[in-house]
Amino acid sequence: MATTTTRTDAAPALKWARRYPELGTGPIPSAPLTSPELFERERDRIWRRVWLYMGRSEELPRPGDYKIRRVEVLKTSVIVTRGKDGKLRAFHNVCTHRGNKVVPETDPFETFARARGNALTCRFHGWVFATDGTLQHVPSEELFPSLDKGCMGLKPLACDEWEGFVFVHADPEPAQSLDQFLGGMGDHFSGYPYGEATLSFQYSSVLNCNWKASLYAFTEGYHVPTIHAGTFPSLAKLVHDDFKFFGPHRTSAIYVPPVEGLEPAATTAIAAGILHKSKDHRPHLDRLPKNMNPNGRKDFQFEFPVTFPNLGIHLGAGNGYPGMCYFTHEFWPIAYNKTLWVGTNYFRPPKTVSERFALQHINALHRNAWLEDTWTMEDTQDALEAGVLPELTLQDEEILIRHADKVWHEYMARD
Ligand code: FES
Repeated sequence: MATTTTRTDAAPALKWARRYPELGTGPIPSAPLTSPELFERERDRIWRRVWLYMGRSEELPRPGDYKIRRVEVLKTSVIVTRGKDGKLRAFHNVCTHRGNKVVPETDPFETFARARGNALTCRFHGWVFATDGTLQHVPSEELFPSLDKGCMGLKPLACDEWEGFVFVHADPEPAQSLDQFLGGMGDHFSGYPYGEATLSFQYSSVLNCNWKASLYAFTEGYHVPTIHAGTFPSLAKLVHDDFKFFGPHRTSAIYVPPVEGLEPAATTAIAAGILHKSKDHRPHLDRLPKNMNPNGRKDFQFEFPVTFPNLGIHLGAGNGYPGMCYFTHEFWPIAYNKTLWVGTNYFRPPKTVSERFALQHINALHRNAWLEDTWTMEDTQDALEAGVLPELTLQDEEILIRHADKVWHEYMARD
């Protein structure tokens, strides 16, 4: 169990501990990051009980479009289809004849394709499924003694969308709808112009660390002035603020006051200049949902909600990274000490060559920051597995980690 302690007499500097005394101020245990047994238990206690992000709706724009994702932690391959009726559905990518994968995975993370004639054909014996999962055709059907095709469709997962973010649930009839699961988090972030940012750049890496080690590193701003000192000296005065919690989900905001006398690199200045002059790409503080940046601060950089368990959606206003709308982090467990991290940057598409150059430059800057971020995680895992650090000590503004640990323990304690 967590060793967090509850204190209501937190020191005055501990603003967030005083605001959220239920999260305690003590260290948190490191065993959830190092235990193979706990990792196995997470599959049933967490991953099979929550809505899991599968991608953006606009990735599958036309009827017949589909994608396949290997979801290692559920020990399955998931196929998300857009049916003839325009609806998104999700199925286990498992043929109901003898269990072959209906569509082979050609990429270790996800594979995109389009079903010709709305049909998915198993390559083993040729059973044909429609994109709504129904079994349409069985070669040599007369040789099966009592085959009821109506009962042999693909095995579904629940599938739903929030603001174009597509989620699935391992239980086809989950106890909580997606809206209920997101709760106040969904309300808080509704209305952002997500659907306009259709240009994306994706990076991924298999990291030799627990998924929480990776998640935790991306959910605090404490590291920024040190890890990113060389590439982003402009972040030296970063302020991490506005911590809020919505059930198992959490958010906070990053503000970056200007550093006096600091000039951006020449290429970055050119890119920023192009984007600041562009109607589509200039900072859009005025277009944030009403709940974001409630004090209208000009130095607002982004808010970063984390949807339990493994999705971060960082919503910007085009300040810190000009032109960028939002970016996502996904943390997919592979083993107790192995994680697939996926980061995706989203921009409005460019209309000119100079805008394309500028967006590509900003994207590359952010990719470089991610390289610096991911550099720490395997070291952390090594140290924790050595057993010399049974607990992790957190400061007040690392409270998102404290909340993540509390939620993790609550889920793990459920029957
Ligand atoms: Fe798919 Fe036989 S396993 S058709």
